[in-house]
Amino acid sequence: MSILQSLANRDRVFEFLVPDESPVDVRHGPILYLEDVSVSFDGFKAIDDLNLTIDDGELRCIIGPNGAGKTTMMDIITGKTKPDRGQVWFGSRHNLLTMNEPEIATLGIGRKFQKPTVFEALSVFENLELAMSADKRVMPTLVARLSGEARDRIDEVLAMTGLQAERDRAAGILSHGQKQWLEIGMLLMQRPRLLLVDEPVAGMTEQEMERTGELLTSLAGKQSVVVVEHDMGFVRSIARKVTVLHQGSVLAEGSMDQVSSDPRVVEVYLGEGI
Ligand SMILES: Nc1ncnc2c1ncn2[C@@H]1O[C@H](COP(=O)(O)OP(=O)(O)O)[C@@H](O)[C@H]1O
Ligand SMILES: [Mg+2]
Repeated sequence: MSILQSLANRDRVFEFLVPDESPVDVRHGPILYLEDVSVSFDGFKAIDDLNLTIDDGELRCIIGPNGAGKTTMMDIITGKTKPDRGQVWFGSRHNLLTMNEPEIATLGIGRKFQKPTVFEALSVFENLELAMSADKRVMPTLVARLSGEARDRIDEVLAMTGLQAERDRAAGILSHGQKQWLEIGMLLMQRPRLLLVDEPVAGMTEQEMERTGELLTSLAGKQSVVVVEHDMGFVRSIARKVTVLHQGSVLAEGSMDQVSSDPRVVEVYLGEGI
C-alpha cells in the first residue's frame, strides 16, 4: 500500500484526530443535510418531515408561498430554532442540533437577513473591517501579522461586490442595493462555507437585481449559497436547482422549468403568477 493510501485510510479511521478548525468535511457527502425534520409551534406544524440536501458549492433557490416554512427552515439551520425531531448535519462531521447559534456561525454558516444591518455612520471599508474583526477565530496576537492579509481580503470583497468606488463613503448614503451588497460582503469577510440569503432583491431596482444575480452566481462554486426568494423573475434568472416548499415540506425539486410546470406547484401558486 502506498504511503498516500495508508495516510488516507488512517484519516478515515482517526477522523476525530483532525482538529476542529479543519475545513468542513464533505468527502462523504453534501455540505448540508436535513433529514425528516419537523417542528411545531403551539401544535401547528411549521416544518413537517423536511428532507433537504445541499451540495458543496451549490447555488440553490428555495421558493414557496407565504407560510411555507422557508424562514423557519433557516432558523433551524442556524440554530435559532431547535426542531422537535430529525437530523441536521453540516458536512459529515458537525451535528448542528448539538450546537448553539454562535457555534454554528463559527463553523462557517453566514446568514443574511432581509433588512440590511450595516453601520450607517461608518465607511464601507470600516464596515468590512469590523466584519473581519468580529471573527473570533482571529487571535489578538495574530492581528498585526494578518492585517496585510485582512486588507487584501477587504479589497477582494470590494471587487466582488462592486463597491470599490464606495470604499470610503459612509454606508448610510449608499443606495438600498449597495447596502445589501455591503452586507453580503460583510458575511464574505469571514469566508463562510454556506451562505443563507433571505429575499435578497426585495425593494431593488431591475438593475440592482441583475447585479445581485451576478454576485450570487459568482459566489457559487466557492461556497454554497441558499437563496430564499419570492421574486420569480429573479429566481428564474439565477436558478440552477430549485426547491419548492409547501406546508413545511418539499413539494417539488428540479430546474425552474420543471418545477414551474409541475401541476402541484401551479396549484399552490395559483394567482401568484409563477
Ligand atoms: N415562532 C413562531 N411561533 C409560532 N408560529 C410560527 C413561528 N415561526 C413561524 N411560525 C409559523 O410557521 C409557519 C411558517 O412560517 P415561516 O417559516 O415564516 O414561513 P415563510 O418564511 O415560508 O413565509 C407560518 O404559519 C408561521 O406563522
Ligand atoms: Mg419568510
